[in-house]
Amino acid sequence: MSIAVFGFAESSGPAGDLAAALGLPYHQVETTRFPDGESLVRVCGEADIAILYRSLDHPNDRLVELLLAAGALRAGGARKVLLVAPYLGYMRQDMAFRPGEAISQRIIGALLADHFDALVTLDPHLHRIAHLSEAVPRIPALALTAAPLLAAALERAGEPPVLVGPDAESHPWVEAVAAPGRLDVLVGEKHRHGPRSVEITVPGSELVRGRPVVLVDDVISSGGTLLAAAERLREAGASGVSALATHCLASAEDLARLASAGIVPVQATQTVAGPAATIPVAGLLAAGLREAGWLNG
Ligand code: R5P
Repeated sequence: MSIAVFGFAESSGPAGDLAAALGLPYHQVETTRFPDGESLVRVCGEADIAILYRSLDHPNDRLVELLLAAGALRAGGARKVLLVAPYLGYMRQDMAFRPGEAISQRIIGALLADHFDALVTLDPHLHRIAHLSEAVPRIPALALTAAPLLAAALERAGEPPVLVGPDAESHPWVEAVAAPGRLDVLVGEKHRHGPRSVEITVPGSELVRGRPVVLVDDVISSGGTLLAAAERLREAGASGVSALATHCLASAEDLARLASAGIVPVQATQTVAGPAATIPVAGLLAAGLREAGWLNG
């Protein structure tokens, strides 16, 4: 029985790292665009169990090619096609806030379940549901947490900081990052007024006076949450503010805004490519795939 990892050009580094961590061959998925915008996808290799790696940030660009690659792998003889999507896009919209809104979490989750035999991701952006299987039905869907990797990144940082989660939803997760180093934790209260407009208060912020603070979140998107939280923490006397997240989707402009606001460094895992993506996830993903037993035939 043959098993291999397949990855797209933009993620050949981390996908290759996953193949190396699993001791498996790595094959490239080639994509080209026709002048009308359609994609031509070609998988270069075959396997009985194909592990297809693609982070689903920029999902409007990436989803169709992903489904085409899964189909090509099956046509090439794969009995199982497993999706490794270190960042799983479209999980945020989990209800219709206004009549007629598409609940993207359910629609995209069901679409992926139709095309893959199992799925693994890291820290999916789930708020009102407890388990990824509620968003991705019918197939095994594994949500790993990067909290231990973030905790290890903190250990290297020297002076023990206060960890601050920006909102109540982040509480258990920030606690998990703080636990190994027994670090102090504060949790903010967030009110979102718009995609880039948030208001944050941090109860108990007197604790940070004269101390370094690390803002910990699952996702950095526009960076607005970090900017608002950092302002409060500086007012409270923090000696420095940095940030640590599983996924950093922020654009270069947004990262520059964070740097100008003195939020340095901003570190994230390698789920989403970019200057903040410094923490490797291949070992965690490899362990998750092995423990799930999906590579056993
Ligand atoms: C919210 O629920 C998330 O945990 C993040 O705080 C949020 O997605 C960050 O978005 P932004 O960087 O645009 O404020």
